[in-house]
Amino acid sequence: MNFNKSNKKIGFIGVGNMASAIIRGITSVGGYSWDNIYLYDVESTKTAEFASLGSHAVDSVRTLCEASDCIVLAVKPQNFPEVLAELAPCVKGRKILFISIAAGITTETVSNALGGVGVVRALPNTPMLIGKGVTAICSNSAVSEEDMSFARAIFATAGDVVSIDESQMNPIISVTSSSPAYVFKFIKAVCDGARAQGLDDESIKQSVCSMVAGAAMMLAQSDRSPEELVSMVCSKGGTTERAVAELDRYSFEEAIVSAMKKCTERADELSGISK
Ligand SMILES: NC(=O)c1ccc[n+]([C@@H]2O[C@H](COP(=O)([O-])OP(=O)(O)OC[C@H]3O[C@@H](n4cnc5c(N)ncnc54)[C@H](OP(=O)(O)O)[C@@H]3O)[C@@H](O)[C@H]2O)c1
Repeated sequence: MNFNKSNKKIGFIGVGNMASAIIRGITSVGGYSWDNIYLYDVESTKTAEFASLGSHAVDSVRTLCEASDCIVLAVKPQNFPEVLAELAPCVKGRKILFISIAAGITTETVSNALGGVGVVRALPNTPMLIGKGVTAICSNSAVSEEDMSFARAIFATAGDVVSIDESQMNPIISVTSSSPAYVFKFIKAVCDGARAQGLDDESIKQSVCSMVAGAAMMLAQSDRSPEELVSMVCSKGGTTERAVAELDRYSFEEAIVSAMKKCTERADELSGISK
């Protein structure tokens, strides 16, 4: 689809980290007109910078609703009840596509609260701030193919977009949305280990980031499994073999898998699913 030629007005409720990343993506990479963007946040300072670039900062959900063809719900899951309650009386008789990016909030929750509207559910991640995001996406049956293409185009301006079934949306948070945090913790640990051995911290962060990006690209381009690539680094009786044995002693992989289960548990709590 010709995304930047679309004249749809896109409204954002909540203009924090993730909404800002989406707005930067659609305007810079996507070439979307600032004039087609409407913003509402309880904290008016959050919209000031984008308003100065030509978007429209409004002072109520109602005004945003009246102006928008598509509304991105970008508040925290905890703020959804108040936002949906404010939206409900404003959407009657209007055809608006809703896109929710909140962890754990189902399309059914949004649709039921707003009288059966079309809802796209998208889970981006923070690397979308630099155009390297991954967004998992799904929709309810009230969303047309054209609207789904439009929603995909929004997130494609800031990285990869992967369509999945809604039943997978909570587990995928632990795989592609929360997971940059695991990588940042790993990088911090390697930098801490470097500092403990007297290596210069300033240059080391950049070297460690290049190493992580290089290793990830190598695996992505390889037809070998992660285990085979670990073996390639581990010479018999060598340094890496001893390092990996220590990682195993601390149950490195089990810790990651356990963290992912906790992540999905929290998403299920936010969805109101008890297992
Ligand atoms: N961070 C991630 O990696 C990630 C990944 C995937 C999905 N998500 C989802 O993205 C959503 C937004 O996350 P974020 O990190 O961008 O949060 P954020 O930076 O806190 O942004 C949310 C913004 O919404 C404002 N807000 C709160 N209640 C509001 C209301 N009733 N009406 C209008 N604005 C309101 C907040 O103001 P105050 O600060 O004053 O409350 C804040 O400016 C969350 O639902 C999260 O689950 C995040």
